[in-house]
Amino acid sequence: MHFGDLQTVGLNEVLQNEYPDAKKIILTDETVGSIWIEQLVTSHSQLSKAEIIQIPEGEAFKTIDVCAQIWEALSEYEIGRGDVIINFGGGVITDMGGFIASLYKRGLSFINIPTTLLSQVDASVGGKTGVDLGPFKNQIGVFSDAAHVFIDDQFLKTLDEKQLQSGLAEMLKHGLISDPSHWKDLQSFDPSNPKGRLKLIRTSVKIKRDVVVQDHKESGVRKTLNFGHTIGHGIEGFLLEKETPTLHGFAVAWGMKAESFIAYKQGLLSQTAYESIAAFIDTYYPKCEIESKDFKAILKLMYNDKKNKNGHIQFSFISEIGKGIYDQGATDVEILDALKTLID
Ligand SMILES: NC(=O)c1ccc[n+]([C@@H]2O[C@H](COP(=O)([O-])OP(=O)(O)OC[C@H]3O[C@@H](n4cnc5c(N)ncnc54)[C@H](O)[C@@H]3O)[C@@H](O)[C@H]2O)c1
Repeated sequence: MHFGDLQTVGLNEVLQNEYPDAKKIILTDETVGSIWIEQLVTSHSQLSKAEIIQIPEGEAFKTIDVCAQIWEALSEYEIGRGDVIINFGGGVITDMGGFIASLYKRGLSFINIPTTLLSQVDASVGGKTGVDLGPFKNQIGVFSDAAHVFIDDQFLKTLDEKQLQSGLAEMLKHGLISDPSHWKDLQSFDPSNPKGRLKLIRTSVKIKRDVVVQDHKESGVRKTLNFGHTIGHGIEGFLLEKETPTLHGFAVAWGMKAESFIAYKQGLLSQTAYESIAAFIDTYYPKCEIESKDFKAILKLMYNDKKNKNGHIQFSFISEIGKGIYDQGATDVEILDALKTLID
């Protein structure tokens, strides 16, 4: 992991020392490409001859079909095992680029340069790579670690407010599952203000890495990172299928509120803790873009979540602010009641 300005932390030196004869491929999306690619390439001599593959932006393009097109392009560029892919973009690019690199010719090295807050604090770290299958999030994927991750928060200066809010949701999750002081610090955090921002990003990344190091393949404690994601993915998948996509972090924020409600109703979480989480999410995030007639379809999607066991939906809750718990269940009625809290 490298934190700070790409030139200061030595992206060029890493490429020169570790991949001196490798072909470099940069995978990016159209927005990041149009804003940042020229600066990236011209300020790093090792990237001056890089092949650039640019795809349309957004979750709708995180598909196996797009991967197949990119594998074709890699083949045309005669990319081999010793070459390196640089994933330059948000979580869609780092998830999909890691997946593409890991499967092409049984595995190429890849480097992540995440450019959204969400991908800096979460998606680019921890080795989960993959793509969606229709409305089902991240159904096809592999665990595969980036050789390096470079986190430079200067990229966030061109990110809009909504995307910053989306990234903050995963940071809030880190505080809620493992560190009450991080949760507290984030209450007054303005992600658009660079002052102190990298320090909070580092804290979030550290929390995630500490969890992942203990349980890389998610058989135990790593599941705590799924807090908010069971209901969140249900909502996100539902809205994606309706072609009215929402931001991943918004869905996670709504999911954290709804799942905290279930934990509170089950007597696992105090009312005070639930109310403080709900109050922050209600103030900071827009209202959830679903209606009660959508609940059944969302529940159906949740029954296809890859984390389920023996046909039962599996949840990761919190039992207090700063303490994640996993392998929890809930009845359909409890889930539907929780979804109601998002539209009341
Ligand atoms: N692998 C994991 O552990 C993990 C964890 C959390 C989320 N994810 C995945 O991450 C994805 C969401 O990531 P995301 O929110 O970064 O989405 P994204 O990659 O779609 O990026 C969001 C938008 O921001 C634009 N953008 C990116 N960087 C920019 C910049 N610096 N300036 C201006 N615009 C910029 C992109 O073009 C895009 O339109 C989801 O697919 C989610 O499933 C993965």
